[in-house]
Amino acid sequence: MPAEEEQPLLLPDSFIMSAKNEADWLHIAEPVASANEGFSSPANAGATENRSSSPFLQRLQSVSIFISLILSPVAIILVSIWASTLGGVSWKEGEAKRVFNWHPVMMVTAYSVMNAGALVFRVSGTSSYQASVGSAPKERGIAKVTHASTWTLSFVFGIVGIIAVFQSHNDKISGYIANLYSLHSWVGITVMTLYSLQFLFGIFAFGGLLSGRRMLTNPLTMEIHKFTGTYIHILVTTTILLGIQEKEGFESCAYEVDSPDLMPVLNYGKIPYACKISHGLGLVILFMGLLTSFGLARFPVL
Ligand code: HEM
Repeated sequence: MPAEEEQPLLLPDSFIMSAKNEADWLHIAEPVASANEGFSSPANAGATENRSSSPFLQRLQSVSIFISLILSPVAIILVSIWASTLGGVSWKEGEAKRVFNWHPVMMVTAYSVMNAGALVFRVSGTSSYQASVGSAPKERGIAKVTHASTWTLSFVFGIVGIIAVFQSHNDKISGYIANLYSLHSWVGITVMTLYSLQFLFGIFAFGGLLSGRRMLTNPLTMEIHKFTGTYIHILVTTTILLGIQEKEGFESCAYEVDSPDLMPVLNYGKIPYACKISHGLGLVILFMGLLTSFGLARFPVL
């Protein structure tokens, strides 16, 4: 028995829907050299299955994925607290500041849902590799529906979030504000476009809407989809951090000093409460980006 199969699982049993062992669950046994190798037949499955990265990395990835999933609801809670300290939310004309607050709430919620959706195959042990060798075919169907649903939901939240910010800028009673003037907004539009393309690609390629037959069996299509999905996750992370920084600039997080601020930590209490929440939110988002991309990575076979 390979050493890695003897390692205990770090996640609760209930977390693992169908994984047969840790290597299965992470599906990092999937070869990295050639996409075609990942779609081996059941006949050579055993040989491929034994090729996985070190048990230590597998454990680290398990923990990363677990923490990242825990951080998803934490981010939603933090952004809700932040929005309420900034006056709460509204959809009424004349309340542009509160209409704007829907923007971070919706965008962070979209990201958290997307984060869970990105990890669903790993958590359920239903990666494309496992499907190709005949394991967990039924659960994979459920995972696919969950993956598609979470990305759809995330897309809807994102659209509502974008509508909110444009509505708050184009409010006659509150006063008009220019649109698309910041780096954040330009990066945001780019990321939304990439997200939409990824979404359409997923629906057409794997839903079979374009050709009548699914391209999922094409390993190159799958590899591209996985790479761009992980990439977009990181880009969304970056955009949110830029957005938080943009908003903090308006709210002002600085405090006055009359001598060199040599021990900033002693002045921590002078940072406004709303900024402490948004800084915390930013760190949570940053860690979600780091942990998820690490959890989804496939390392060279040892
Ligand atoms: C992936 C997530 C996000 C995307 C795609 C995104 C996209 C955008 C876009 C396209 C605009 C321009 C709207 C306009 O010009 O009327 C905008 C504005 C803005 N966003 Fe975001 N946003 C995201 C997350 C956030 C977050 C989490 C915050 C935190 C508060 C934020 C803060 C702002 C601010 C302050 C503005 C208004 C100033 C400006 O136009 O830059 N954004 N966002």
